[in-house]
Amino acid sequence: MRSGVIFGVLAALLAFPDALALKANDFKTCSKSGFCRRGRALSARAQEAQASWKSPYSLDPSSVSISPDEATVKASVKSSLYPDIKFGLELRIHDDGVVRVIMDEVDGLRKRYNEAAEWALVAEPKMSKTISWTAGKKDLRAVYGEKKNIQIVVSYDPLRVTLLRNGKEQIVLNGRGLLHMEHFRSKTVKETSEEVASDSSGEGQEVLQVENVRAWFEGESEDDWWEETFSSWTDSKPKGPESLSLDISFPNHGNVYGIPQHATNLSLPSTTGDDAPYSDPYRLYNADVFEYLASSSMSLYGSIPVMHAHSADSTVGVFNAVGSETWIDISYPTKKSTHTHWISESGIMDVFLLPGPTPEQIFTQYARLTGTTALPPHWSLGYHQCRWNYVSSDDVRTVQRRFDEEDMPVDVFWLDIEYAEDHKYFIWDSKTFPDPVKMTDDVAAIGRKMVVIVDPHLKRTDSYPIYKEASDMDILVKPKSGEGEYEGWCWSGSSSWIDHFNPASWDWWISKFKTNKIDTGFSWTQSTEDIHIWNDMNEPSIFNGPEITMPKDSIHYGGWEHRDVHNINGMLFHDNTAQAIRFRGDVPKRPFVLTRSFYAGSQRISAMWTGDNLGTWEHMAVGIKMVLANGIAGMTFAGADVGGFFGNPEPEMLIRWYQVGIFSPFFRAHAHIDTKRREPFLLEEPYKSIVRDILRLRYTMLPIWYTAFRENSVTGLPIVRPHYVMFPKDPVGFAIDDQFFIGSSGILVKPITEKEITETTVYLPDDQVYYDYFTHYAYRGSSQGNYVTVRAELHQIPVFIRGGSILPTRERPRRSSPLMKHDPFTLRVALSKSGTARGELYLDDGVTYSHQQGELVWREFVAEPSAKTTRISSKDLASANPSQTVDGVMLETYNPKNAFVKEIEEVRVEKVVVLGLSNKPKSVKVENGAELYWEYIPGVPASDKKEGTSSVLHIKDPKVIVTEDWAIVIS
Ligand SMILES: *[C@@H]1O[C@H](CO)[C@@H](O)[C@H](O)[C@H]1NC(C)=O
Repeated sequence: MRSGVIFGVLAALLAFPDALALKANDFKTCSKSGFCRRGRALSARAQEAQASWKSPYSLDPSSVSISPDEATVKASVKSSLYPDIKFGLELRIHDDGVVRVIMDEVDGLRKRYNEAAEWALVAEPKMSKTISWTAGKKDLRAVYGEKKNIQIVVSYDPLRVTLLRNGKEQIVLNGRGLLHMEHFRSKTVKETSEEVASDSSGEGQEVLQVENVRAWFEGESEDDWWEETFSSWTDSKPKGPESLSLDISFPNHGNVYGIPQHATNLSLPSTTGDDAPYSDPYRLYNADVFEYLASSSMSLYGSIPVMHAHSADSTVGVFNAVGSETWIDISYPTKKSTHTHWISESGIMDVFLLPGPTPEQIFTQYARLTGTTALPPHWSLGYHQCRWNYVSSDDVRTVQRRFDEEDMPVDVFWLDIEYAEDHKYFIWDSKTFPDPVKMTDDVAAIGRKMVVIVDPHLKRTDSYPIYKEASDMDILVKPKSGEGEYEGWCWSGSSSWIDHFNPASWDWWISKFKTNKIDTGFSWTQSTEDIHIWNDMNEPSIFNGPEITMPKDSIHYGGWEHRDVHNINGMLFHDNTAQAIRFRGDVPKRPFVLTRSFYAGSQRISAMWTGDNLGTWEHMAVGIKMVLANGIAGMTFAGADVGGFFGNPEPEMLIRWYQVGIFSPFFRAHAHIDTKRREPFLLEEPYKSIVRDILRLRYTMLPIWYTAFRENSVTGLPIVRPHYVMFPKDPVGFAIDDQFFIGSSGILVKPITEKEITETTVYLPDDQVYYDYFTHYAYRGSSQGNYVTVRAELHQIPVFIRGGSILPTRERPRRSSPLMKHDPFTLRVALSKSGTARGELYLDDGVTYSHQQGELVWREFVAEPSAKTTRISSKDLASANPSQTVDGVMLETYNPKNAFVKEIEEVRVEKVVVLGLSNKPKSVKVENGAELYWEYIPGVPASDKKEGTSSVLHIKDPKVIVTEDWAIVIS
């Protein structure tokens, strides 16, 4: 939530008039950021010099040392600009072919921040045991890959790192000579010249040259080297200039994706060049951007420096593990090549090159580095009802009752900041929430949950135990002096922030969430294990800070400046909160924590939402693209606020927004405190019934979503997938981002995000039949792709099942998802044009970690044609794939009769719907069993080329058990 607009309503802010003047231009453009300006100026000089431009950086061949395992090579690098400054370069080849490129200043005046990757990586990567570096006269090389077709080449002079496949350049570092690591220096010119003068004779002249060269390469002045002012804030920059500029080119890839979070197209529009839509580079600097634009390269709340570069031949990726503010220019010199230029304020160079060559492999390579999303609690895939604010415990009860009266499913009720007395999180306002435990128990009576906000700003008053304890422990972020406590303004008035980089904060923070009394201070006894947590404002948002965040010269644990760790900061907060929720009770349970700020690795344990969007059609549309882009960078449990945070959407817009919401991994409605109430039960007819159906559709499809989460937990493949991921060879799909697929299920969706639409065009990418989910009308793709026009009136969502898919659903309306645990399944068997189909179903208890011990069900459904019969069977996938089962955990053995299977052993398949059979069957039987009840409606067969309503076979109650092997034979 949040923005300047509402400040007027808050008494705390009257004490702080500056906050009232907040507006969008309170954020820097590149031209207002010293190091970005310097980076762009470097690029401009290179462009001007054209062919005569040469990178001053070179590798010293005499320094090359190859590790005994031969997978790591180290060498010295120097810059002809500053011959006395030393840099160290290291390249490591991992066992999956990922190449890590590290460069740092050696024996510098100070130390560059080098811990970003440590926070992001899930484990220390394993080095290759088979790949060897060899040092030649002009370069270092390693050749690898199954077909020995991948080459990594490090050219000495100028320094250049190139990844090639089949002799074709895939990724090039410093190919354009924009590499520049600003070394640490002393502030005054005088000191520098004295230092140099005391050196041996002859050096004096060289220094003069150095000065000249610097004037040319680094620009003509010390542009904001030592101090920087923005609006009324001054950044003291005690370490001076330390930025890092690096160009990364993809000479054979014409589309790039990723680097969330930005409100823009999935295929990233250019920022430089003649018709670049954006004038500023993409910025990664976690910020609470007030009323953000629906199309912009501006920073938002989270940053993941991961980029995919794609062409019909190959996909490659880079992960640039940097935690400081970073700007990225993108240009497309040709339709088939991409230039990018990364400019970071501080930190070492630590870049991972992901060789692909398919999107799937990129996801797996990135997941091996930073992890996948652990299976979330199952209920968190249900519908979340939020508002700033449900004002009392009775308000919560009334809202719950209204959902039940209207037969609308919902799983979670949320409380925003007003539950807390004076915004002291954990401390309930006893006037409005006198009975928090009882209220939560009432909500939990049918398995529902609550999510309550805990923000990172701590009200600075000794009567607030969280602040008092943190202050006594000296674990708060410090001001630039390095002494005492940094103080800023937020919801709670004068506030301080826990330094989660300080390990002393970890166990302490975890202990605060215990629901029982503890010996060491406060614990949240006024809560239950049915309360989960929302971490907002964790960029951190600070109303009187520069760009509404923490001053960059504030000091964290280890003496690091906030500038070094800013983009990582939010992740540590939600990560520690999630650990707290996981371990607060006797039995560890899966936490649900929603975060606004995030970094590479955040995906492991938290969900995110796209922040304070506006109730406009543009925001609705861009929310889909943002969720897709987050998935590209691993942060797949994502969604945008349904309805838009600001504004009062008319019923049409609200309905369309629910249609978008049910097709997002995270599905929450939320609203600003100044908006009218807009819970779905408040709608008039026919809108109310339309929304009820939409909510029910989400619940019907929960098995499909949960199964997609399982797959993500092992492979890193996103839950919602854009076209280029599904059909990487089809160029038409490379820029498509308004329709997408759900996991591997075969569902294709195109939500409507425009006003007064009655039909729309959908792109079908391949030569396959696509069935309308609701009407069973069969549309045809073609090998060149095909556009079809489909109905899309207000109650209609364009949803298709790709031929060849089997979808498990649960069709009985329930008030909450836990009530569905023993419900029977329906299988939709959507035959491909060759009469086959396949699908998966994953189930477990949805709450504990027993699935990691193998208490789960993972089934495969297959439909296979043979002479005049179609056989639909169910078999156990978990027994066959113990290492691929779930959460990346290796199951020692899988017991098909495990405790969870026993718990649901009565759950059956109550209906099978087969789409696209060619003929009316003569008989439909469970294999070796009796004839079943069935009904056949003639229609277009899957094998046909023509469009029309497909044939449908309804098989009623075959009485097969979902956890068992079985087969149904249609002949
Ligand atoms: C985003 O994509 C759409 C559709 O291709 C295009 O019309 C629009 O110009 C793009 N936006 C930007 C900022 O390039």
